[in-house]
Amino acid sequence: MRVSLEQAIAELKKGEVVAIPTETVYGLAADATNDTALKKIFTTKQRPADHPLIVHISDISQVTDWATDFPEIAVKLAKAFWPGALTLVLPAKSHVSRVVRGDEPTVALRVPNHPLALTLLKQGSLSVAAPSANLFTQLSPTTAAHVEAGLGEAIPVLDGGACNVGIESTIVSVATDGQWQLLRPGMISEAEIVKVAGLPQRVNITSLEQKETQLTPKVPGQHALHYSPRTPLSLFKDRQALLAACNALQNTNKSCAALLIGTGAAPDCKVITLPSQPEKVAEQLYSALHALDAMKVSRLLVELPPASAEWMAVLDRLTRAGHQ
Ligand code: TXA
Ligand code: MG
Repeated sequence: MRVSLEQAIAELKKGEVVAIPTETVYGLAADATNDTALKKIFTTKQRPADHPLIVHISDISQVTDWATDFPEIAVKLAKAFWPGALTLVLPAKSHVSRVVRGDEPTVALRVPNHPLALTLLKQGSLSVAAPSANLFTQLSPTTAAHVEAGLGEAIPVLDGGACNVGIESTIVSVATDGQWQLLRPGMISEAEIVKVAGLPQRVNITSLEQKETQLTPKVPGQHALHYSPRTPLSLFKDRQALLAACNALQNTNKSCAALLIGTGAAPDCKVITLPSQPEKVAEQLYSALHALDAMKVSRLLVELPPASAEWMAVLDRLTRAGHQ
């Protein structure tokens, strides 16, 4: 159900959830200071309660309402990238709801770069917690129609058009000692963060070691089965292998559809081709996966981009989509 800006603000103030546009993906928003409202996010998404939420604020000056400490490096990052697709995880003030924090001692904050989202936050004097507006483990929505397809027509949606970044924000945690860590790759790259922070991230611990030692902050909600279409999906590092897989499926009377990146030979099935620039692929990625999913074929064949730094965030989302 599409709602106006005024209706969206009124619903949020009443303690209801509203899907709102951001430049990354649509978020399922609730008043970040209202536990009853926050709990509705978890029931609507069917998301486990230990998964913390990102609090969306309208201005850098509000960070200290939520965080006990705003280390110099975090200030630099916020000044460089906000409003924008960067989430900062900082030590939380004690009043910050445990529902938002998922029982972590930290809180995740972001100033989104979307005119409607910013107007909603400012005009309503609101801070909203908002995970992506999709069912837990499903594909994130980048249009109002995706939200309705995933969560149902009854969800109030503020339609702000298609998201122009297209994948979720880069998440960086900054500790009180000023050390930082990349918790989730996004279109703001690690190299850009190093440049602004002026130092590399704290030792790169693999997720297995992380699990065993708990030396670093947990990254809740980052488990492999995330961002998945409903159709089984296979990933291919090269086009020839994808063409061969398409032939093999069709020889056994199974239908397939393919997602290709850039030019080259096309398989003999339904195809969506994305351009070869990382920003364009990110912008169109979830829309393409939603469209492929709707084709109701037996298997999706997805071409992976090169494993270089500029493709890190897209590779991350595709790898998760392909993990089943
Ligand atoms: O672009 C985005 O970040 C979108 C838009 C709506 O802002 N939001 C989004 O939210 O992707 P969600 O809930 O799908 O992912 C948020 C992730 C969680 O999975 C978790 O890994 C991390 O943020 N997170 C949140 N609070 C955290 C905390 N206190 N410590 C560590 N990670 C946290
Ligand atoms: Mg999500």
